[in-house]
Amino acid sequence: MATVSLDRITKSFGAFTALHDLSLDIEDREFLVLLGPSGCGKTTTMRMIAGLEDPTSGDIRIDGERVNDKPARDRDLAMVFQNYGLYPHMTVADNIGYPLKVRGMARQERLERIKAAAARVELSNLLERKPGELSGGQRQRVALARAIVRTPRLFLMDEPLSNLDAKLRNLMRAQLKHLQRDLAITTIYVTHDQTEAMTLADRIVIMRDGRIQQSGSPAEIYEKPGNAFVASFIGSPPMNLINGTIANGKFVHAAGSVPVSGLPDGPIILGVRPEDIKLSEPGAADITGTVFSSELLGDSVLLGVTAGTDLINVKVGPRNGRQIGEPISIGLDRGKLHAFDAQHHNSIMERRP
Ligand SMILES: Nc1ncnc2c1ncn2[C@@H]1O[C@H](COP(=O)(O)OP(=O)(O)OP(=O)(O)O)[C@@H](O)[C@H]1O
Ligand SMILES: [Mg+2]
Repeated sequence: MATVSLDRITKSFGAFTALHDLSLDIEDREFLVLLGPSGCGKTTTMRMIAGLEDPTSGDIRIDGERVNDKPARDRDLAMVFQNYGLYPHMTVADNIGYPLKVRGMARQERLERIKAAAARVELSNLLERKPGELSGGQRQRVALARAIVRTPRLFLMDEPLSNLDAKLRNLMRAQLKHLQRDLAITTIYVTHDQTEAMTLADRIVIMRDGRIQQSGSPAEIYEKPGNAFVASFIGSPPMNLINGTIANGKFVHAAGSVPVSGLPDGPIILGVRPEDIKLSEPGAADITGTVFSSELLGDSVLLGVTAGTDLINVKVGPRNGRQIGEPISIGLDRGKLHAFDAQHHNSIMERRP
């Protein structure tokens, strides 16, 4: 078991500051996902917790103990690196078993653990290969197996599924979630895939430019994004952000208007998720536009609607496909609108229940 606490961490590389005064407390057994775009500081955060990088200022505590000066090997954690970090001259089996070997585990027990870990990630038939003879996805699974071959007090996983094909990724995702529950090991997991974040996390921390934007359960982040950036990062496809103006109790847009209450006059960004928009009769439409794209996703159809200069994504039932260029009328679910300040992009209206 382990708690992790980051206390006002700043990390600079020369003149560039990658992390700004970052504070975060991770609970024992929590599955915490760091989510954010490329370059926002996810790997840097992980490397500091692992002890592979020193913070410029601030304290890192594991189980209450300050570990800033504790070498990586003494922190009792297993990390899956974004670039695998495998030993090229060792077989898959030896790579997986390495953390056991350095801890002096007897050969027979080691082999059993290696087999069990390899089976979990479907590598059983590749144990004698070298990393150079594997695909990217297979290497990634070797790195995963090496992390789960023993039970450390903390898992750090940096995009561990990014190189797997979609089917294997879904399978591994379920495996990981299950494994983490079984072993009850605190896990910090990095991804820029919001689906992965939503499905795996007890809590998601969204980062941007070395700063935390929002921290909350997947449901909180989905239902109450604190700003337009967070809103635009969650959902598949993410929330539509439509620039317009509030006047006389209405949101006014080049392609229509929507009654809204409780918002001050002036420019705003209206947020509405694709699944919270319906097709409507032309007379009753909030917004009218033309069909830009129509994609059957299986259980739904995703329509791209050109409205003024905006492209609005609309998710409708599977039998609602449209022809490109067709005129189309849409209605927004009044109870599910979000609004963001046009200048600072912060939420100014919480989603009503
Ligand atoms: N050793 C370094 N020297 C200089 N700058 C660095 C160094 N390591 C990271 N950076 C910079 O710090 C920022 C954060 O990098 P980091 O690797 O943490 O991003 P990330 O969120 O993991 O991105 P990605 O999703 O692409 O892996 C980036 O702008 C990166 O260029
Ligand atoms: Mg990274």
